[in-house]
Amino acid sequence: MKPDILVTREIFDDVLEYLAGHCAVAANQGDTPMDARTLARNLADKAGVLTTLGDRVDADLLAGCPRLKAVCNIAVGFNNIDLAACTRAGVMVTNTPGVLDESTADFTWALILATARRVVESDAHLRAGEWHGWYLKQFMGADVHHATLGILGLGRIGRQVARRAQGFDMPVLYHSTRQADPQVERACNATFVGKDELVARSDILTLHVPYASSTHHIIGRQELAMMKPGAILINAARGGVVDDAALAEALADGRLGGAGLDVFENEPALHPALAGMRNVVLTPHIASSSTATRHAMAMLAARNLVAALTTGQPPHLLNPEVRAGFPAEGPGPHAR
Ligand code: GLV
Repeated sequence: MKPDILVTREIFDDVLEYLAGHCAVAANQGDTPMDARTLARNLADKAGVLTTLGDRVDADLLAGCPRLKAVCNIAVGFNNIDLAACTRAGVMVTNTPGVLDESTADFTWALILATARRVVESDAHLRAGEWHGWYLKQFMGADVHHATLGILGLGRIGRQVARRAQGFDMPVLYHSTRQADPQVERACNATFVGKDELVARSDILTLHVPYASSTHHIIGRQELAMMKPGAILINAARGGVVDDAALAEALADGRLGGAGLDVFENEPALHPALAGMRNVVLTPHIASSSTATRHAMAMLAARNLVAALTTGQPPHLLNPEVRAGFPAEGPGPHAR
């Protein structure tokens, strides 16, 4: 008998067909977001689930899902899932590393350029009929070329961001929990510095760390005060790594030049002060959203789910200590 699974949000038809070849699928192709109670009701009798970042998987949910063996997130980040609670409950958890690095790095550059060169603000000005002709001091922004780029978190995505900086002749500094291998540093043309030095020396500071208790407000009031006057902050990593209230203050009082933000502390809610600011570029958590990449993420998550339920060996298992009754063999590759 095919295992029962739930797909919590709309996915691509061919991914659904692939899943249906192996599982009995309950799919939310209408894409109606499920609140906690609806998710619990729909998942109560399922063996597996494809989740997205809006689905919270915690001990309360797991308590009502005694047959659940696998939670497969369509994302590289998995801070919507209580991994420890899943491990305690014997539930495998997977993510989708690798397939979104380049698209996310591309989008980081979209935010850098749009913020520094005031693309969104000037577009709005034009559309509003406010442009009355060229003048010298109109929409002057900050140069990106030759500016110092600071990268916090030189993982897979941070490295792709660094590689792209070479075309702009930028000195690149980085800080990570561990210094990268010399060949990685050479390929990225990036210099390791302490976190405070990174924050203080960057003209453009871009964040590429996962959200965890150790990265909560890693850019807070103190770090924002250390940034150069006029510097730009870019966050396409996770809400909560930046203290949005402190950021709004630093932007409002003119200490920072601008911010490009794809993720927010309480998304989908936005800090009310940010929405009214002209020196911020705001996008709704779409850094990985090219058609090809979102398809690759969905297919990878589906393959993880089928492998988890049929062999107990999903390729991107985050808690290899759980094999849900399958023979254990070798550790699964880890996150980010
Ligand atoms: C998107 O934010 C992801 O984690 O894949």
